[in-house]
Amino acid sequence: MTTQESTETYPVEFVLNGRRTRVDVDPRTLLADVIRHDAGLTGLKIACEQGVCGSCTVLQDGAPIRSCITLAVQALGSDIETIEGVAPSGADLHPIQESFQREHGLQCGFCTPGMVLATKALLAENPDPDEQEIREYLSGNICRCTGYVGIVASVRDAARCANGDAASSAPTDGEGV
Ligand code: FES
Ligand code: FES
Repeated sequence: MTTQESTETYPVEFVLNGRRTRVDVDPRTLLADVIRHDAGLTGLKIACEQGVCGSCTVLQDGAPIRSCITLAVQALGSDIETIEGVAPSGADLHPIQESFQREHGLQCGFCTPGMVLATKALLAENPDPDEQEIREYLSGNICRCTGYVGIVASVRDAARCANGDAASSAPTDGEGV
């Protein structure tokens, strides 16, 4: 039996990190592949490829999605943000990234883009999450290195920064264990 492969492509327009973007894709093309290969934005990482680990997280209209199980055509007309869009100048870190740096919320960095984006979505939804809410929200983002203590502390620090607490610049080792 032979399988007939479609060569038909479809135009997909969406906004990627603030820039209008158009790609012509096979309908089976994954959003992660368009972002990494067509747009050349390799900040998102592809690990499990089955929607489990969160390494491929991007924001679609502000909500975290897994780009490894999202078809590119599903991005049609939406606003997609990757880690590159969080601090577009490349010179200055986003305050959430500063919190992750300050509170040791990253180690190998494979999960970090997804963690930062998920944190951005969480704080937009809930500006003052408690530890349990942070852990629940980030439960779809797997880190294999840090044990989450630094990550939770980073999110709490980011929330305090966003809420104007100057004391947030002091490290809070062990908080949230
Ligand atoms: Fe997409 Fe793991 S690579 S969820
Ligand atoms: Fe997250 Fe290593 S720092 S997987």
